[in-house]
Amino acid sequence: MAGGRKPWLIAVAATGALAICAGAAAMPGSFDERIAAATRLTARWSVLWFLAAFAARPLHQMYGGVFTALLRQRRYAGLGFAAAHTIHGACFTWQLLATDTTRPLITFIVGGAGYAAMFAMAVTSSDAAMRALGRNWKRLHTTGIWLIWFIFAYSYSGRIGRADSMALGVTMTVLLVAAALIRMPPVRRLLSPRGAGI
Ligand code: HEM
Repeated sequence: MAGGRKPWLIAVAATGALAICAGAAAMPGSFDERIAAATRLTARWSVLWFLAAFAARPLHQMYGGVFTALLRQRRYAGLGFAAAHTIHGACFTWQLLATDTTRPLITFIVGGAGYAAMFAMAVTSSDAAMRALGRNWKRLHTTGIWLIWFIFAYSYSGRIGRADSMALGVTMTVLLVAAALIRMPPVRRLLSPRGAGI
């Protein structure tokens, strides 16, 4: 069973995001502060699931071992990301409706496209959809994953210049850029302990 599919990972991701919301709700402070915390912390939780899905294949190619196990669960890591990020979506929708927080139009357009891509990827994550879509499956999933990567990288790199969230901005930007770099074969060959044969 160790190598089997673990769809329950999706429930772990969703439950974690809901627990974060419950924790934020129980925090002292105003409603505005608590809903903002729920929005921010659910995004931080979901980016970890995104990174696991985004970097699973290159990490498997470079190191094998635990990352091979991760690669087998990649679909569920991706769906876990979609579940957690849907809860982030519910949080910011509530935040935007119930508080004075605003977002520029471009966030609605690009962020909305990110959500559309995420849901399109989630509903086409089955073997049957993969077969039915053929080459278009890869087109959709490659474009979608890079669009979501871009939104995360843009959001977190923008925090580097802000004193209160500089450490978070640097950490997440480094992780996202490193994950993007190892998806490139020449970088993998350079870094891989398995040598140039991969
Ligand atoms: C795939 C699309 C999206 C991604 C990947 C994404 C990602 C993020 C990230 C990384 C943060 C910062 C969390 C942190 O501090 O750690 C964030 C916060 C936030 N996002 Fe999104 N987001 C997306 C779409 C949207 C959309 C469409 C909206 C609304 C139009 C939105 C509204 C917000 C708001 C209000 C915050 C809270 C900012 C704050 O209180 O500092 N997001 N999002």
